[in-house]
Amino acid sequence: MRPNVYITRRIPQSALEKISEVCNVEMWEEEDIPVPRAVLEEKIEEIDGLYCLLTENIDETLLNRAKKLKVVSNMAVGYNNIDVDAASRKGIMVTNTPGVLTETTADLTFVLLMTTARRIVEASDFLRNGNWKTWSPMLLTGQDVFGATIGIIGLGRIGESLAKRAKGFDMRVLYHNRSRKEEAEKTLGLEYVDFDTLLKESDFVCVMTPYTPETRNLIGERELSLMKSTAILINTARGGIVDEAALYKALKDGTIWAAGLDVFEEEPVKLNHPLLTLPNVVTLPHIGSASIKTRTLMAELAATNLIQAVTGQIPTHLVNKEVSNQ
Ligand code: GLV
Repeated sequence: MRPNVYITRRIPQSALEKISEVCNVEMWEEEDIPVPRAVLEEKIEEIDGLYCLLTENIDETLLNRAKKLKVVSNMAVGYNNIDVDAASRKGIMVTNTPGVLTETTADLTFVLLMTTARRIVEASDFLRNGNWKTWSPMLLTGQDVFGATIGIIGLGRIGESLAKRAKGFDMRVLYHNRSRKEEAEKTLGLEYVDFDTLLKESDFVCVMTPYTPETRNLIGERELSLMKSTAILINTARGGIVDEAALYKALKDGTIWAAGLDVFEEEPVKLNHPLLTLPNVVTLPHIGSASIKTRTLMAELAATNLIQAVTGQIPTHLVNKEVSNQ
């Protein structure tokens, strides 16, 4: 009997073919519309494997409808969209796609950092809107990246790769993490500091932690008030880690200088969101891992995880290790 799987969006052909070789596949075909909840509720009842994206909320209510589901394979490294505890209680494996997106996401984080520091979007709009009358000494001046201090909150794979890029710009690299990474400190020349010291001393504060109940609103009014008035906040992790109302206030009243955001609490962010009215905010539509090569690798890795789980193997990237096929 071939396992039945449901894929919640069109995925790259190579990944789809891999899954189709071993499974009966049904897929939500719309490119730009997430699968409606009602469809997912119906499909989940009869499938052995679910292949989903971070746009799907895989909560307990949904999981409770599953009769024989073995795995939820998320095509993302973050899995805050899945109630992992509920899945574990039901013996459902949850998998993710770490590793393959590390460098691409670190690249984007550094791009966003530089873009925000040097006001690239604002400068481009300035020219296109016909405002460029002459070269002038302080026109569109930003903050230096070279030689500045970067503070990385969460030194996982992507945080470490970001640190490597920062070193190439002769930056002082501070980090804060639940556990110290002494090897990385030595090999990359990083300094471990407590959370408040990182906020106080960094010119760039980069949020690189997973989104969990503990990191919800980790950056709020108190944290923003500790930062330098010239500091820039960069978030390419998850929107909910930063308190958006507090950030808006801090950016508007000059508590901090600017922010670069690839992620929002609610995605897609509403066009009337207060943060989008500020010139000192650079925004992107959650494209951290969006290179053709990396997204293809992520899709294929999620396919491998799914296949492993539905064919009785332990998936390579199993999140809830307490659940397994054995
Ligand atoms: C993207 O945000 C991911 O978690 O892979």
